[in-house]
Amino acid sequence: MRTDTGQIVHLADYRPTDFVLERVDLTFELDPKNTKVEARLIFHRREGADSQAPLVLDGDELTLSGLLLDQVEIPASQYDATPDSLTIRDLPAETPFEICVTNYINPQVNTQLMGLYRTNGVYCTQCEAEGFRRITYFPDRPDVLAPYTVTIIAAKEGNPLLLSNGNFLGGGNYDEGRHFAAWFDPHPKPSYLFALVAGDLGVVEDRFTTVSGREVALKIYVEHGKEPRAAYAMDALKRSMKWDEERFGREYDLDIFMIVAVSDFNMGAMENKGLNVFNDKFVLADPETASDADYANIERIIAHEYFHNWTGNRITCRDWFQLCLKEGLTVYRDQEFSADMRSRPVKRIADVRHLKSEQFPEDSGPLAHPPRPDTYREINNFYTTTVYEKGAEVTRMIATILGADDFKKGMDLYFERHDGEAATVEDFVKSFADASGRDLSQFSLWYTEAGTPLVSVSSAYDAGKATFSLTLEQTVAPTPGQPVKQPRHIPLSLALILDNGQIAEPQAVAGGEYRAGVLHLTERNQTFSFSGISSRPVLSINRSFSAPVNLHFEQNAADLVQIARHETDMFARFQALTDLALPALIAATKAVQNGGEVRTDAELIATLIEIVGDSSLEPAFRAQALALPSETDIARELGGNTDPDAIHKARNATIKAIATAGLETFRQLAEASGNGEAYSPDADSAGRRSLRNGALSFLAFAEETPARAAKAYADATNMTDLAHALSVLTQRFPDSAETKEALTAFETRFADNALVLDKWFSLQAAIPGDGALDRIKALMKSKHFIATNPNRVRSLVGTLAFANPTGFHRADGAAYRFLAEQIIAIDKRNPQLAARILTSMRSWRSLEASRAEHAKAALSTISDAKGLSTDVSDIVGRILK
Ligand code: ARG
Ligand code: ZN
Repeated sequence: MRTDTGQIVHLADYRPTDFVLERVDLTFELDPKNTKVEARLIFHRREGADSQAPLVLDGDELTLSGLLLDQVEIPASQYDATPDSLTIRDLPAETPFEICVTNYINPQVNTQLMGLYRTNGVYCTQCEAEGFRRITYFPDRPDVLAPYTVTIIAAKEGNPLLLSNGNFLGGGNYDEGRHFAAWFDPHPKPSYLFALVAGDLGVVEDRFTTVSGREVALKIYVEHGKEPRAAYAMDALKRSMKWDEERFGREYDLDIFMIVAVSDFNMGAMENKGLNVFNDKFVLADPETASDADYANIERIIAHEYFHNWTGNRITCRDWFQLCLKEGLTVYRDQEFSADMRSRPVKRIADVRHLKSEQFPEDSGPLAHPPRPDTYREINNFYTTTVYEKGAEVTRMIATILGADDFKKGMDLYFERHDGEAATVEDFVKSFADASGRDLSQFSLWYTEAGTPLVSVSSAYDAGKATFSLTLEQTVAPTPGQPVKQPRHIPLSLALILDNGQIAEPQAVAGGEYRAGVLHLTERNQTFSFSGISSRPVLSINRSFSAPVNLHFEQNAADLVQIARHETDMFARFQALTDLALPALIAATKAVQNGGEVRTDAELIATLIEIVGDSSLEPAFRAQALALPSETDIARELGGNTDPDAIHKARNATIKAIATAGLETFRQLAEASGNGEAYSPDADSAGRRSLRNGALSFLAFAEETPARAAKAYADATNMTDLAHALSVLTQRFPDSAETKEALTAFETRFADNALVLDKWFSLQAAIPGDGALDRIKALMKSKHFIATNPNRVRSLVGTLAFANPTGFHRADGAAYRFLAEQIIAIDKRNPQLAARILTSMRSWRSLEASRAEHAKAALSTISDAKGLSTDVSDIVGRILK
């Protein structure tokens, strides 16, 4: 493992390479312990580059075993080779030349899962961001693009399948017991998009005809026997291909598109050209083993990786600082796809909930960084919710500011200008500025400044003048390295709702730009005045969450109720409910802390029950309304001195009050027909299940017995209902006989299904309270626990740290100490996994004092540990700073 060197990379230091890579020819002789890699690289010196400049190639834990220049051995005096670099001097000044590097690697011992590794007997690669340098010496940076030819040689036994990027060239027998296959990828690509897979897998095949008539073979490779579970992924792939043609005018560009599902993978999936590699959790599904959420994730991630073919692959990133150029844009695209496949408002609500619960805390804590950062120590630590989800929000704001037509023109211009290139965020923004004629320079601060703006809202209505005036003030708190913030361009979609429920059409708006229902806040302080408003309006602002900001707006409860009941923007309705619920939950938390009683506002209860019971609204929306702000949301809103136990008690007491008041409604919903209907993963059916299951959760609070959940468990005919029933049992009645029985039955029934066992682990790891830690320690000794499998580690340690506030934030700090031990141990095998789980500690400073002390001590244990990876040392360093 590479240990920390403390080196920092700066965006300002970017310069192009001295050598241009013309083509790449790789030959692999696969062996589990001793794979031979031969790389033939044709370079020429870049015009204008120093004629003496050496060629410097990246490596990571490599040993050089052969080096030729134009087929002739290079004398030792002409180069320096270390495990992490290869420097060759005295290369031709004018003519192209070929470098041939030979080295041997050991995939079997590669537990980092970066570079070439083994998973369940299959050879597999992960190269983004800097994994290719663990395969061979190479200019391993995203602005070095070339066509690749790849020849794979391997024992026939165990490796009938030999895959790489591009189109299949041919293959056949090689020598005694071995065969080969050759692939050619004509589209110039950076090394991070390289992939190789070899082994013995089953396949599901289909075809897609592109809009211009190109026939594309589609193949999804999975472990033998799991083929039926790839059907939904295949369906999602075909829908993605069609959607990208229709919505973005993007067509697929090779003869074949392959997806391989593997069980050991650090992240969700990877968009390697023509050969996506997936965490099998995001491919495999059937009604018995996958929940509605699993299906939705598969659809989303299959689409995401496919969409990268244009936004990421055809146009890639100039350097890793530009990561959000491909990730933010591609998340925006997958969000839009899911919105079109499912319910747009419900998708928006879910995305915003996720943004607020994951990205907002990141943006206000020690790990805050802009979507386009300008320094990093470890790029793997920048695959963050800021780069991805906030990056998507920034793209969405461009669409809001420009309007659909100009946004489309800007996208087309971007594709036209930069196809085949490695681009920057500036290139992207310029395409929109040029296509629309709009100045986006102030807007660009969204890419370069961290932190979530706070917009304070105050308003006044003058009946005599029929004028509504709105005063807005924006501030952004300092973030690490950025003490002073500039005012941003914030597009706020709004509606003034009149007495009669109509949305007012103002005669004129003074004080700034207002167009198509969107107000453009560009100053630190700005007052807008809307004339021709015939009665005092109710202000609905930041509709559809048009800007990722926090609002400070003391809106009265009656106005919120009106919005919650009557807004036409369903996101705004949901937001109004949240704005009613959060203060109630905060008051409840304070009451618990002061030893008082939790009293839940009757208006809130009534509004919620009315909406949840309103059959004119779609069930998925009602289910979202029912899912109150989470304990983490409440902690964030409290903003400091967090006591997770008080929050937990207060939230539960509030739910109980609502459940008791709405008992009849919840019973009807829980017993609604559809229970037991044949399973279909479509959004409507999933929405009905989520409402029914939400009601079941509430009933567990009102009825206080496990009977109903136990019956639901026994009656369940699909994984959504089964896992939900089990979660009600484990969350509410962890010690009951019913729960123990259900857990045992679940374990036995799914003992040979790794993905379902992950659920079994995480359901138990999420059981609240002080007992969580011992339960998790015991589960780590279970025969099913596999310390080398990232999904399994996440399901136990990750669930404790990210999804069990009371269990993790035990007052005695024991869970923090446990996490520290785990991080240090995981880091030795898999630094990326360790660093990711460690980010769960990022909000430690907002804990109440004694917990914060314990957290700090645990973090110090980590930072004092010897031989930390760059990944963990970077995160712990920033968290403690
Ligand atoms: N590009 C991949 C995606 O879109 C993720 C790769 C993550 N790589 C990493 N080193 N964390 O989803
Ligand atoms: Zn991506």
